[in-house]
Amino acid sequence: MKPPKAGVMGWPVDHSRSPVLHGFWLKTYGLEGSYLRLPVAPEQLGAALGELHEKGFSGVSLTVPHKETAIAFLNGITAEARHIGAVNTVFLTADGKLLGTNTDAYGFITNLATAAPAWRPDAGPAVVLGAGGAARAVCYALQNAGVPEIRVINRTLPRAEVLATALGPPLRLLPWEKMTGALKDAALLVNTTTLGMKGQPALEIDLGPLPPSAVVNDIVYVPLETPLLAAARARGNPVVDGLGMLLYQAQPSFTGWFGVRPEVTPELRAHVLASMP
Ligand code: ATR
Repeated sequence: MKPPKAGVMGWPVDHSRSPVLHGFWLKTYGLEGSYLRLPVAPEQLGAALGELHEKGFSGVSLTVPHKETAIAFLNGITAEARHIGAVNTVFLTADGKLLGTNTDAYGFITNLATAAPAWRPDAGPAVVLGAGGAARAVCYALQNAGVPEIRVINRTLPRAEVLATALGPPLRLLPWEKMTGALKDAALLVNTTTLGMKGQPALEIDLGPLPPSAVVNDIVYVPLETPLLAAARARGNPVVDGLGMLLYQAQPSFTGWFGVRPEVTPELRAHVLASMP
């Protein structure tokens, strides 16, 4: 049997960290297999997915701009992918069927549980900033975990309305101006916007009303310590950076393609960090 093969489809795909992390695991577990960068233009996506079986792939990761449009070319998707409205991992069955799933919610919640073990879903409301694809995975994970109230705050309110309608209670919408007030009695604050990312404006937020025990999680990981995390750390809140979500979301994908459940270790973190531009 030929060694298993997987890869990441995106356009562009040069920036993707996935080859670095799957490559590290392949080496660590001494597996014969490969993980490739697959630049695929949007108009080529259907054809590229259709060729995976004959080319001997076990599956692929999908990144921007394919996570939503790919669904039309797949034979089926999991409940996670349906609720999140996007696919980040494709598995090929032995007879060449394409099954899509989304591991971002798993990545988010596993990282949160690992990096902030004292946090409990029922500790209180969560405040989620943003309403894009990442926010949807985060909200789905928190909803599934049993968080009693999820306050979604987005600059563009109609976009947050779409998210809240898709997922339903306990999501609640608040306008951007209500951000500071929404922090009162919150047990968790998650930034899923691009604010604070290298090259983007900082997130302007007054953490004053946030309880000192509330966990602050930024899913931005370039830089690793965003201004939000620095401000939260300075006032004593437990903080969780965004790199862990990236690492954990890859875990179920690797397991499905290569048949070994890989561990997220400090060595993996250091290796991926060292590869950042
Ligand atoms: P992803 O799939 O990673 O979530 P996205 O779908 O592009 O990325 O979402 C980006 C998020 O960052 C959105 O919530 C966006 O807010 P809008 O829906 O109002 O665009 C948010 N965002 C980006 N730039 C922002 C800014 N300058 N101020 C406030 N929010 C911003």
